Amino acid sequence: MTAPLPPLPSWEETPDDLPAAIRQVKAALRARVAASGRTVEEVFSVIERTVEAEVAEIVAARERGEPVWPVIDYADVEAGTVPAGSVRALRRRGCLVVRGHFPREQALAWDRDIVGYTERNGFFDAYRGPGDDFFGSVGSKPEIYPVYWSPAQMRARQSDRMARVQAFLNAQWKHESGGVRWFDPGRDSLYPDRIRRRPPGADSGGLGAHLDPGTLDLWMTASYQRAFRHVFDGTIEDYDPWDAAHRTDGPQYPGTTMCSAFRTFQGWTALSDMDRDQGVLHTVPIPAAMAYLMLRPLLGDVPDDDMCGVTVNRVFPVAERRHPLLLRALTAIPDVRAGDSVWWHCDLIHSVAPVRDQRGWGNVMYIPAAPWCPRNERYAASVRAAFATGSSPDDFPAEHYERSWPDRFQPADLNPVGRRGLGLD
Ligand SMILES: [Fe+2]
Repeated sequence: MTAPLPPLPSWEETPDDLPAAIRQVKAALRARVAASGRTVEEVFSVIERTVEAEVAEIVAARERGEPVWPVIDYADVEAGTVPAGSVRALRRRGCLVVRGHFPREQALAWDRDIVGYTERNGFFDAYRGPGDDFFGSVGSKPEIYPVYWSPAQMRARQSDRMARVQAFLNAQWKHESGGVRWFDPGRDSLYPDRIRRRPPGADSGGLGAHLDPGTLDLWMTASYQRAFRHVFDGTIEDYDPWDAAHRTDGPQYPGTTMCSAFRTFQGWTALSDMDRDQGVLHTVPIPAAMAYLMLRPLLGDVPDDDMCGVTVNRVFPVAERRHPLLLRALTAIPDVRAGDSVWWHCDLIHSVAPVRDQRGWGNVMYIPAAPWCPRNERYAASVRAAFATGSSPDDFPAEHYERSWPDRFQPADLNPVGRRGLGLD
């Protein structure tokens, strides 16, 4: 028997004095690692070596002109014939392109439907500019449309094809352990998000490398401390990025860029063809890099009240100054066609490249995999209310453009997948 490790202080709501709380939790995390018999530097070097090996392979594959992002065909998901090698690649890289998730003509028709829906309802006259500063906008027309309830979006969300891919992705996670079923891999919660339509000729500054699952709460709430237990208790070798334990219940600190839901994967469905050099999504396709990011602020070169720049109300930044190794692996999606979908593990570092004078459209519907769990069930109550009134969902700015739009998707149009996803059945 070894002595129990010292406990960690935790804050279930945003601490009032952030620098003091950061100092306190960092000291406690260091003490806990030390009590496990290894130094923070030793634990960090274990994960650093793993990450270094992955970065080297990714860079080498790119230089050889080999694809880094795994690609599978939707038909194989439907038939249950996804090759074992592709599943291994998905687990290793944490990201995926699903070719032909929807027929190309279907996706292009949805894109046209969204244009009709916004134009009929006078959206461009009513648009008041970005409701948050998360994505920049170009000129007077938005790039990110705060539109959630179009028939096209809801039909995609509640489609059998979407449900099958989400279930396949969820199944990559360990969703039961210690007698707890952390989430239901066969039921999605229909997390409503926005759309992006970026026109030909657009200039866009892109979006810097960042992380979405949380900010200071990742180190400071009791449930995340349990989720990342292996990182801080001397058993870093047991850290499993695919273990959902303790990730599907806890709160997230509120902020303008938060996501209340637990997402196994973030994702979007392409509504136009997009070439890989036209301002597209990049990821650092190394799921274990999360442990690196969690440990890095504890090293001696980072001031005691600094979490490598992570703070509340701003996205978790991943920058050259503290994370040059990780950023070498930043890799673009391959060319995609309308109807393909793109997915990345919720802890993956990602960015959107800048583009000048974009060739072709850059249109996507954001639809993640957000399986049914206590956290998503709670959020679903507010989603139902937003759906009933055409309001912007609670995680997004309160813009509410669609409240008066008569042709938004109606409750009578829900199918069984949609009703279950909203918690109506
Ligand atoms: Fe993001």
